[in-house]
Amino acid sequence: MITIRKATIQDAKHISSLGKKTFDQSFGHLFKNRGDLVTYLDETFSEEKIVHSLNKAHNKYWLVLEGEFAIGYAKLQLQSASEFIDSDKVCKLQRIYFLKNYVSKGIGSKLHDAVFAEGSENESEYIWLSVLKENKKAITFYERYNYTIIGEHPFTIGSQKFDFWVMARKLK
Ligand SMILES: CC(C)(COP(=O)(O)OP(=O)(O)OC[C@H]1O[C@@H](n2cnc3c(N)ncnc32)[C@H](O)[C@@H]1OP(=O)(O)O)[C@@H](O)C(=O)NCCC(=O)NCCS
Repeated sequence: MITIRKATIQDAKHISSLGKKTFDQSFGHLFKNRGDLVTYLDETFSEEKIVHSLNKAHNKYWLVLEGEFAIGYAKLQLQSASEFIDSDKVCKLQRIYFLKNYVSKGIGSKLHDAVFAEGSENESEYIWLSVLKENKKAITFYERYNYTIIGEHPFTIGSQKFDFWVMARKLK
């Protein structure tokens, strides 16, 4: 059975390992230098860093489990301004990731619903996100939820530059 619940500090280990694994499965093939990827994963998803992030009141995390096994997660950052949105009541869907065997089974929609509900309850006017331009599947997913492209930005990992769309939609 699939369950979705809020993550707590006790879940830091799960999120750290899911963060690394899902990012690698989704984007690992795009890296010319595997060392750049490994360094990024170790820095971004270290357990210590995830504990620190979970401790911040404006960060909300969800875990998706099949039975006891963690298969996906999401992170919402409340009060996260964007240069492309003229409001300070803004939240950011910072991560939504599943292990590859669980992609395209309709679970992402359920997880997004949970994140979206939290954003709406927290008086945010807008929700936004960054998505890699090559990530057509995720872009289609967000478009289904009426997100539209409002900007773009580059992001460098090690020696490699990636291009992102910024997408957003109104919450109310
Ligand atoms: C982006 C992501 C979170 C979307 O979640 P998802 O579960 O794949 O998407 P959905 O919930 O909309 O699933 C719908 C798909 O499942 C299929 N599906 C199967 N059973 C279903 C059901 N019971 N209900 C709804 N859809 C179902 C639909 O046909 C649809 O197929 P499609 O992907 O070929 O269009 C997920 O694909 C993912 O983790 N990708 C890798 C990481 C990533 O790119 N994250 C985003 C970074 S910005």
